[in-house]
Amino acid sequence: MRTQVGIVGAGPAGLLLSHLLHLEGIDSVVIESRSRQEIEATIRAGVLEQGTVDLLKQSGLGERMQREGAVHKGIYLRFAGRSHRIDFPSLTGGRAITVYAQHEVIRDLVAARVAAQGKLLFEVKDAAVYALDTREPKVRFHHGGQLVELECDFIAGCDGFHGITRPSIPSRMRHEFTRVYPFGWLGLLVEAPPFTDELIYTHHERGFSLISTRSPQIQRLYLQCNPDDAAADWPDSRIWEELHARLGRIENVNLTEGRIFNKAVIAMRSFVVEPMRCGRLFLAGDSAHIVPPTGGKGLNLAAADVRVLSQALVAFYKGGSEALLEAYSATALRRVWRAEHFSWWMTSLLHRFHDESPFHHRLQLSELDYLVSSRAKAQTLAENYVGLALE
Ligand code: PHB
Repeated sequence: MRTQVGIVGAGPAGLLLSHLLHLEGIDSVVIESRSRQEIEATIRAGVLEQGTVDLLKQSGLGERMQREGAVHKGIYLRFAGRSHRIDFPSLTGGRAITVYAQHEVIRDLVAARVAAQGKLLFEVKDAAVYALDTREPKVRFHHGGQLVELECDFIAGCDGFHGITRPSIPSRMRHEFTRVYPFGWLGLLVEAPPFTDELIYTHHERGFSLISTRSPQIQRLYLQCNPDDAAADWPDSRIWEELHARLGRIENVNLTEGRIFNKAVIAMRSFVVEPMRCGRLFLAGDSAHIVPPTGGKGLNLAAADVRVLSQALVAFYKGGSEALLEAYSATALRRVWRAEHFSWWMTSLLHRFHDESPFHHRLQLSELDYLVSSRAKAQTLAENYVGLALE
């Protein structure tokens, strides 16, 4: 089998890359170890930056997102028993975010690839990448009981943090940066009408909480928990009690205790590998970097990576120039590190650290107070939250 770009992984990065290349007449094959049902059911965050929304719209993927996604023009920060609104448009020259779940983006992407008869192979086994430092890198895997060798011009490693592509880069050529946080998030999906009109991020002595939404019928909640908690440690009664305690007496919030139908503990980690390239293997999305979910940057970074990568591949195939491919890692890492800093900062500001001193707690409250009273500081949050134009 032969293609121009072999793509390992059918998450947001791999599928969007395949779609963007297809629009430019560049052939790709996407391989994925999971089934279509599994990738379409994986629950992740749901915040799309303006730039991600624009990219999806421009590439013909915006129809359902525009119909079913919700545009949010601000968020609430809640601390010391009071809520404060951060208004995005007035702080960012009119920008906003769209709440639309990652698995809905995945469904739209798969549908588009299938409609275009894109080569998308699910449930492949034993995938491995070879000959990365040659002009004919290869992907080898089992599919439907057959051993397949896929010859490519380039390989895109879009197979997530636990994938096989990043470890295929010799360790002496990889520089990795990691931070693991001493807490997790308990993520919940609840059958209930919206609790509030905009997301509420709460700093509280008992721990962080976040109220988000998915649709007029389904709400998304997160509670800071211990990193080694299991979902079973959180019976529904404990969840509601904790949520009420962390929010405190609050106006304009209607916490309908609907059926909780999904509970999972999410690890909190920051990770970056440099460079995001080895020979003709290019990493994109979670295979190259992880952010803690605070601020919802993960999917947006994946989309930004593949936009840069697809433009570089187009320049190569249309004009024969490798200059943008050479620049890919540095270009992508500039945005990656901005989002790494922002996600780390929001996480550090809003969570309870088990070893924190009362001094540290006071500093958090002072910074929050400054954030809601200084336009300069609020603008810093807002422009990072809606997404910076960094190219
Ligand atoms: C979500 O809706 O899943 C979400 C929203 C905002 C965040 C993180 C996750 O900061």
